[in-house]
Amino acid sequence: MARGLAILLSTVAVIHLVRAASNSTLNQFPDGFLLGAATAAYQIEGAWNEDGKGENIWDHMFHEHPEYTNNGANGDVACDSYHKYAEDVEALKGIGAEVYRFSVSWSRILPTGDLDVINQAGIDYYNNVINLLLENGIEPMVTMYHWDLPQALQYIGGWPNPLIADYFVEYARILFENFGDRVKWWITFNEPSVFTSGYSSVGYQAPSQNAPGIGNYLAAHTLIRAHGKVYRLYDQQFRATQNGRVGITLSTDWYEPAEDTEACVEAQRRMFEFQLGLYAHPIYVDGDYPAVVRERVDNNSRAEGRPRSRLPSFTEEEKQEIRGSSDFFGLNAYTTSLVMPGESGTSPSLELDSGVIRFYNESWPVSSAIWLRVVPWGFRKLLNWVATEYQGYPIIVTENGYADTGELDDQGRISYYGSYLAEMLKAVNEDGVNVFGYMAWSIIDNLEWASGYAVRFGLYQVDFNSTDRTRTPKASASFMGDIYRNKTVPEEYFQ
Ligand code: NOJ
Repeated sequence: MARGLAILLSTVAVIHLVRAASNSTLNQFPDGFLLGAATAAYQIEGAWNEDGKGENIWDHMFHEHPEYTNNGANGDVACDSYHKYAEDVEALKGIGAEVYRFSVSWSRILPTGDLDVINQAGIDYYNNVINLLLENGIEPMVTMYHWDLPQALQYIGGWPNPLIADYFVEYARILFENFGDRVKWWITFNEPSVFTSGYSSVGYQAPSQNAPGIGNYLAAHTLIRAHGKVYRLYDQQFRATQNGRVGITLSTDWYEPAEDTEACVEAQRRMFEFQLGLYAHPIYVDGDYPAVVRERVDNNSRAEGRPRSRLPSFTEEEKQEIRGSSDFFGLNAYTTSLVMPGESGTSPSLELDSGVIRFYNESWPVSSAIWLRVVPWGFRKLLNWVATEYQGYPIIVTENGYADTGELDDQGRISYYGSYLAEMLKAVNEDGVNVFGYMAWSIIDNLEWASGYAVRFGLYQVDFNSTDRTRTPKASASFMGDIYRNKTVPEEYFQ
């Protein structure tokens, strides 16, 4: 009994010590915390048909439908990083980045998406990028799929076609074989909940296929299977020699109940399960979709008179492959929205299945992207939600950032980063959330998809009117450089 009490008291003392230590360092990043910045191939590379690159679904959509994008903008040249990647590395050095998260363009390596043509020039390009990063002390973190499916694979249906999972595994193998000796951080997919909307809507997201409530679920199903297979491939054939980490990047707003009622709290949970849990639950919990998603889509499908659910089911073998298929939880987080029960979206659609209405508090400051409101406290809550729901997985923030119109004196971005980083450090140092890294979106201004070049996220400005695509540091680059080098967020952001 006495011994038990002594142990209890000493445990309490240790907890106090840890608290005291973390309080005094609330504004400091823990040792080993990875700080960096991110981009994606279609948004920066340009050279859309150079040196053997094949067409992808964004090339195709924006060439066929310039009206889908702001001012007919597209990624034909973008930041010209295919030729100017050395300047991107200089920019990364400028902010003291330790990690660079970038994506590989599938059709630059495999122009048809298949193994019939392997484009050595594409492999050379990424080798050059990776080697230059390492020479400069920056670790590469590679996203395998940041939305740019080879168009040849869209001609056979794209992600709703279950076979695409096998094509993806073969592509992933090429990446592990060619780059895995130097790349130790792999992300299979970026933001599935966003890119699957390319199969449920028109004009925003490639390939712009209008099959809401069906195409997006089929696409989700294929990519989750593909993710599980790639993770197992790495485990079985590459991990022992390459010793890297494989994960996925998921995205969500913080969903705040609009009112303090049980119905709004239930709506919050449904919203999270339909946006985040759809992917996170199979991978990080039990190999299967969240029960509430399964139930609602099955019921609605039945009520619509369909012989099968619009949401497919995993086999037992697939569930085993998918459950636990990540070494970390990659999270893209930008904003917060309010939720309450209600009907939105067409019939059928994921939105209608969720039974949730989503909106903003108009008093929250808005950025140049209509969906991005500045709500720092939501970031802390979101990190806590992820840590609680998906226990046992270290979190890395793979994107966070602010949109303006590209000015050099970007005070809005400085205040966004200052306040969001402070909330993240509160989550880490006060709440004990296991976050081990943070990537700013983005190191340079780039093509913001259908918003073109009107919405800018860069720490460096890119002059899209000059053929040189000149990069110039914004005020925020020096602000982030100080934070990254000192491993400290200025105290004023904690008040
Ligand atoms: C999410 C996406 O991953 C990235 O491509 C996009 O540019 C940023 N967020 C900003 O919208």
